[in-house]
Amino acid sequence: MRTQVAIIGAGPAGLLLGQLLHNQGIEAVILERRSADYVLGRIRAGVLESGTVELLARAGCDDRLRQEGLPHGGINLCFGGRRHRIDLAALTGGKHVTVYGQTEMTRDLMEARSACGAKTVYEAAGVHLEGFQGTRPVVHYLKDGIAQTLECEFIAGCDGYYGVSRQSVPERAIETFERIYPFGWLGLLADVPPVNDELIYVNHAKGFALCSMRSNTRSRYYLQCPAEEKAETWSDDQFWDELRGRLDPEAAERLTTGPSLEKSVARLRSFVAEPLRFGRLFLAGDAAHIVPPTGAKGLNLAASDIRYLSEALIEYFSGGSTAGLDAYSSRALARIWKAERFSWWMTSMLHRFPEVGPFGHRIQLAELEYLVSSEAASASLAENYVGLPY
Ligand code: FAD
Ligand code: DHB
Repeated sequence: MRTQVAIIGAGPAGLLLGQLLHNQGIEAVILERRSADYVLGRIRAGVLESGTVELLARAGCDDRLRQEGLPHGGINLCFGGRRHRIDLAALTGGKHVTVYGQTEMTRDLMEARSACGAKTVYEAAGVHLEGFQGTRPVVHYLKDGIAQTLECEFIAGCDGYYGVSRQSVPERAIETFERIYPFGWLGLLADVPPVNDELIYVNHAKGFALCSMRSNTRSRYYLQCPAEEKAETWSDDQFWDELRGRLDPEAAERLTTGPSLEKSVARLRSFVAEPLRFGRLFLAGDAAHIVPPTGAKGLNLAASDIRYLSEALIEYFSGGSTAGLDAYSSRALARIWKAERFSWWMTSMLHRFPEVGPFGHRIQLAELEYLVSSEAASASLAENYVGLPY
């Protein structure tokens, strides 16, 4: 088999790239290790920056998002038992974010891909990359136990943190930067109305909590927990009691509980690989970087990488210019590091860190007080939260 671009991974990054290329007449094949149902079963992010929404529109995959996505013009910070609103729209000249689940975005992209007849190989095993330092990259894989070969001009490594693409690069050619946090997030999804019409980020003596949502009838809640925590050891009742205990009295009173649809633990990590290009192999999304989820940047950062990469590939295939491809790594990394900084800062300000003690906690509270009382500080948070410019 031959194609122009081999895309490894059918997460949001790979699917979005496939659609943007297809719309410009560029052929791509996506190789995905898992089944489509497995990919759709992973509950992950839920908050889209307007740049991500624009990119989905460019991909022609924004119909349902426009109808069902919830625009949010503010978020709430809760500390010392009181809630404070950050007016994102007023502080950013009218910008907002859109609540729309990663699962829904992935479904829309998968449906668009199958409607246009573009090829995705699900359950592609043993993906192996070769020749990307030369002019004729080849991807080998197994489908139903039979060896297959995909020849291409470029490889887009969109296969997440544990994928094969980054691991295919010789160690001496890549530098990585990492910080692992000593805790995780226990998430719960339930078909109950959200406790509030906007998100609430909570700094509490017992640990961070987040009240988010997927729709007006589906809530997503998170609790800071030990990194090694197992979701199965938490009953739904224990989760609800712990969450209630971390909220302000009014929200605690209003919290509607119900049976969980899903519970899982995500460990928190900051990670960046440099550079993002190795000959004809490009890394994008979680394959290249991880942010801790506080601030909802992971999925949005995957989308901004894909914006730069798709534009570069389109420029190359339409006129032969390699300028965009040559600039991809530095353009993407400049935005990635700013999102890394924001996610690290939000994480540091809102979580309980075992090592910092009472002094560190007082500093967090002072920072939060400053944030909600200074327009300059609130505007900085708002500008980052709605998404920095491309
Ligand atoms: P992925 O979504 O990871 O997609 C990569 C794809 O590549 C996967 O489908 C995988 O199966 C496939 N793959 C892997 N290896 C191979 C291989 N060898 N061959 C072929 N295919 C392969 N972000 C937020 O903003 N908010 C959140 O609340 C949030 N929660 C998260 C919870 C969890 C448990 C995780 C893991 C991430 C979370 N994120 C969150 C981050 C966000 O979901 C990611 O940033 C986003 O999914 C990145 O998209 P991606 O396409 O780059 O990678
Ligand atoms: C969600 C996750 C986040 O990390 C965040 O900052 C906001 C919302 C969510 O899953 O809904």
